[in-house]
Amino acid sequence: MKNIFEFAEACLHRTDIDEKLALTHQAWQLLQTRRLSFNSDRPVLPILNVKFPERPQLLAPRQMPQRKLTNSGGVIAFFHAIAHVEFVAVYLAWDMLYRFRGLPDQFYQDWLRVADEEAQHFALIRAHLQTMQTDYGDLPAHSGLWEHATDTADNLLARLAMVPRCMEARGLDVTPAIIEKFKKLGDDKSVSILTRILTDEVGHVELGSYWFKFVCRQQGFESEAKYRALIRQYYKGGKPKGPFNREMRIIAGFSNAELDWLEN
Ligand SMILES: [Fe+2]
Repeated sequence: MKNIFEFAEACLHRTDIDEKLALTHQAWQLLQTRRLSFNSDRPVLPILNVKFPERPQLLAPRQMPQRKLTNSGGVIAFFHAIAHVEFVAVYLAWDMLYRFRGLPDQFYQDWLRVADEEAQHFALIRAHLQTMQTDYGDLPAHSGLWEHATDTADNLLARLAMVPRCMEARGLDVTPAIIEKFKKLGDDKSVSILTRILTDEVGHVELGSYWFKFVCRQQGFESEAKYRALIRQYYKGGKPKGPFNREMRIIAGFSNAELDWLEN
């Protein structure tokens, strides 16, 4: 039997990209054949020990060049940015299951599935970039994504509120319009990749909602009030800005009351 937390430790602390993708798929395969154990007596290393590859160079959001989808450089920059989101998403899924112990086995199985899907998304986007003579790491990337993890390293409810139920939920709001743009440009390959990713992301946000409510019940919190309080506490700038994709967010486990609060 191999242990899920050994895989998590390797994926979070080693920088080789191909090794990380291979280990993620291997762990998922072992889970399918019931050869993965969830025994958690290995210590949890501090989040500052997590290591990212040397490339891409990470820049503050305001230093990132502006991009437009109307020229090939803009399309490349857009997919490089998405590759980075997916790459960090692999880390976020592993970190969710690595850092928070003592939950039902299902919690670890769910986030391992997310890690595996994010690794697939990254590989799809990377291959798409390579058809445009670009690799992941050739351009700079946004440094902000991982901050949500470091900010919430000691608070599972804050992590669930900020990562799946805020940052990833934002993808549900913005991706449909981007897919429409690629449809208008006649770029079928980009449309199919982004549609596949969007479908999986709804499931990831839904898992975030499920576990957020589960842990709220466990800790005796009313989940809607707790969500509002955590967003107010952890979201820089007070509250995420809309417009929100109500239809998809409802499927992903948001309540109408939560969406009304976000909108007002
Ligand atoms: Fe993804």
